[in-house]
Amino acid sequence: MSTVTNTSSYNYKVVRQFAIMTVVWGIVGMVVGVFIASQLVFPDLNFEPWLTFGRLRPLHTNAVIFAFGGSALFATSYYVVQKTCQTRLFSDSLAAFTFWGWQLVIVAAAITLPLGFTTSKEYAELEWPIGILIAIVWVTYGIVFFGTIMKRKGKHIYVANWFYGAFIITVAVLHIVNNIAIPVTMWKSYSVYAGAQDAMIQWWYGHNAVGFFLTAGFLGMMYYFVPKQAGRPVYSYRLSIVHFWALISIYIWAGPHHLHYTALPDWVQSLGMVMSLILLAPSWGGMINGMMTLSGAWHKLRTDPILRFLVVSLSFYGMSTFEGPMMAIKTVNALSHFTDWTIGHVHAGALGWVAMVSIGCIYHLIPKLWGKEQMASVSLINTHFWLATIGTVLYIASMWVNGITQGLMWRAVNNDGTLTYSFIESVQASEFGYIVRAIGGFLFLLGMVLMAYNTWVTVRSADPVKANAAAQMA
Ligand code: HEM
Ligand code: HEM
Repeated sequence: MSTVTNTSSYNYKVVRQFAIMTVVWGIVGMVVGVFIASQLVFPDLNFEPWLTFGRLRPLHTNAVIFAFGGSALFATSYYVVQKTCQTRLFSDSLAAFTFWGWQLVIVAAAITLPLGFTTSKEYAELEWPIGILIAIVWVTYGIVFFGTIMKRKGKHIYVANWFYGAFIITVAVLHIVNNIAIPVTMWKSYSVYAGAQDAMIQWWYGHNAVGFFLTAGFLGMMYYFVPKQAGRPVYSYRLSIVHFWALISIYIWAGPHHLHYTALPDWVQSLGMVMSLILLAPSWGGMINGMMTLSGAWHKLRTDPILRFLVVSLSFYGMSTFEGPMMAIKTVNALSHFTDWTIGHVHAGALGWVAMVSIGCIYHLIPKLWGKEQMASVSLINTHFWLATIGTVLYIASMWVNGITQGLMWRAVNNDGTLTYSFIESVQASEFGYIVRAIGGFLFLLGMVLMAYNTWVTVRSADPVKANAAAQMA
């Protein structure tokens, strides 16, 4: 592979590192995803004690959200903030620290989760020494990002940076507050919160991890890369500002929809439901703003698979942000909660929106970062696009069918008040859906492997001189 040095005006080194790791961690996280999906079809694939579903599931969620999604967010935010502020990152050494620190967090997660060390809080499973490392890396990330904004050339701060900025600040607050715990040994701690408060803090964290980690940061990507790839300005800059303020002020209240029919006060549950319903408006405002940016450029979809990734990701964003508010309605949630419907909703957002938009952005970035015109093979991007789209559809459609089947079977009662179905009958009824989901996940993973190959060929043929020239100030 050609070595690309970094002596130029923009710091592309850290962007390149995170871009490559996005592809690597994407594959790792999805291999684990396909494996746990297969365990639900073939239970014999549970190998005690390290490779059981219970231990690998959090490994999957941490790997795809924080390693894959996180690397995509670091790569794109460091790129976008430099380009839009027309200046180099605030500090190269701090940026390098965030790269190596984040990789260390991921490796620590990959070791401790299969060993069974966990706080048992979903998406915040990592034990306190790793939690502290995350906090340090994240605050450093904030210093690099906002330090770069401070030294920007123009007065204006482009809207993508607002989304990235809100994501960085909010994730720091969420992570620190939710992880306050009393350590009892090196790998065991107890949360300072208890009972219903603990649940409320956890889902305030959990839901805003969705709202800020899996949404606001990716909207930052959308606002920079969709206009760039389409070659058109954002449809309405004014709408993007309304979108920003409405989204961040409403998201933060919606967490209680994860705790319907629990010990949480009833009014808090209703507040969460109402705020979730209102959230539909800013979410769709943003989706429409992204889509309409293509006005006059729709024909490009015929030839540009990267733009297809971006547009289809917006469609899935629109779909999952319609589905979410519906599932937040208490009576709907009474059916959907605990079923595979939730899993389908998660992956409509995770595969359809988060992964697709990241893939589109990384395909846009790789040639730019290595001074190439385009990816080595455009037709492979196209194949990847179809594998990802078909894989996502198979995943979510099978989970809808499973979810509604399970919900209806669990609530069916006979005339004498006894349950019509035993639990195991609902598991048997779900088997076909699990097979289809595993196939869908495998297709999605296959697409990622094509991406890795395409990236390898593109990067290997890079010309260091051109790559450095690309990193010069525009
Ligand atoms: C090849 C692709 C993937 C496959 C096959 C897959 C498979 C799975 C499976 C089998 C589960 C456990 C479901 C259960 O407990 O019944 C799961 C959970 C989860 N996955 Fe994935 N996944 C994939 C990609 C992703 C991606 C890219 C993300 C995020 C960006 C993601 C985020 C999650 C989350 C958040 C959960 C937990 C859901 C919940 O607790 O409700 N997955 N995944
Ligand atoms: C307006 C936007 C959204 C609303 C109102 C919403 C609402 C909901 C609701 C009601 C649940 C089920 C809670 C339960 O029964 O336990 C849920 C689960 C979930 N949603 Fe959403 N959703 C939205 C968008 C998204 C998006 C875009 C993503 C992903 C990128 C996402 C990821 C998740 C995850 C990961 C869970 C599972 C949490 C867990 O139990 O582990 N949501 N959402």
